[in-house]
Amino acid sequence: MSLERDLVSPDAEGEESQIEAALRPKRLGEFIGQARVREQLSLVLESALRRGRSPDHMLMSGSPGLGKTTLAMIIAAELSAPLRITSGPALERAGDLAAILSTLAEGEVLFIDEIHRMARPAEEMLYLAMEDFRVDIVVGKGPGATAIPLDIATFTLVGATTRAGLLPAPLRDRFGFTAHMDFYQVEELEQVLHRSARLLGVTLPGEGAHEIARRSRGTPRIANRLLRRVRDFADVRAGGVIDRDIASAALNLYEVDAEGLDRLDRAVLDALLRKFGGGPVGLSTLAVAVGEEPETVEVVAEPFLVRQGLLARTPRGRVATAAAWHHLGMTPPPDAFGATLFD
Ligand SMILES: Nc1ncnc2c1ncn2[C@@H]1O[C@H](COP(=O)(O)OP(=O)(O)OP(=O)(O)O)[C@@H](O)[C@H]1O
Ligand SMILES: [Mg+2]
Repeated sequence: MSLERDLVSPDAEGEESQIEAALRPKRLGEFIGQARVREQLSLVLESALRRGRSPDHMLMSGSPGLGKTTLAMIIAAELSAPLRITSGPALERAGDLAAILSTLAEGEVLFIDEIHRMARPAEEMLYLAMEDFRVDIVVGKGPGATAIPLDIATFTLVGATTRAGLLPAPLRDRFGFTAHMDFYQVEELEQVLHRSARLLGVTLPGEGAHEIARRSRGTPRIANRLLRRVRDFADVRAGGVIDRDIASAALNLYEVDAEGLDRLDRAVLDALLRKFGGGPVGLSTLAVAVGEEPETVEVVAEPFLVRQGLLARTPRGRVATAAAWHHLGMTPPPDAFGATLFD
């Protein structure tokens, strides 16, 4: 489960994830945006299909909600291959992984979500499996222990991570292809919204779609979620019509601001400016100030703030940019950018 879903709703495994599954594009042709990744991926897949071989192992890297899991499912669908799904935290012991690897079917796609969270022994087993399609099953304990090599089916590993930087180099190097997923353009999110509106039976005029897309933090999952909140608002208060003003009023009500910043984003900026004078401040100090885990601040809030030019990560800590001060309607202190960014 992603960090972001944890934050948003406690019943994340319920309705939210059902709707998410229903809105997931099933084939590469339906996948919107990420033009470069799509092109790279379609070449990898098509060439593997032509050769009748399993494609190289692939890593999907990017912020929560950008489509990593969706792409993993699409890869299996495009290969007409069965798909096995697990996650890093579920692979605590090497045995957990061995049980999966030894029962893979020929050509199966194995999806390991949050692969950066895998435990060390499982990771080492995976190296051998990725490279030689073999696992060593250790029998017995202590000096009498023996490793029995076991051949496994040829498979394609698809890993997903929100934190590619945490992957050990030997693991990273064993992927033949890495999809770097970036935040989406507003026009791409408009397409996502129109598609979702069609599937959900919601009438969505262009200006409403534009307003929601603009405020979706470059993230399809957020766009889809905001669409449903705006639809609720429009149904109850506006006879179901989602024009720009209705979309805007609904988003304001749900505390999504004009640039798409949500409560956590604003809390981070607010603490950075008011408590630490704009920084530099260390990640963990900043996280304590907003009552969140450092990882949540780093993975969920920061990438978007950096991309919006509101926050900078410097060797000495997190620093607010001039735009951040303006965004919160504050004036930067006169020496704010003298000593921090440019020394
Ligand atoms: N390119 C896309 N086109 C249309 N919809 C998309 C696209 N990418 C993602 N979505 C939608 O966004 C939702 C979230 O995508 P997905 O679950 O694949 O994200 P993720 O990167 O795996 O996130 P996490 O890191 O939280 O696991 C999906 O339900 C899907 O409906
Ligand atoms: Mg996912």
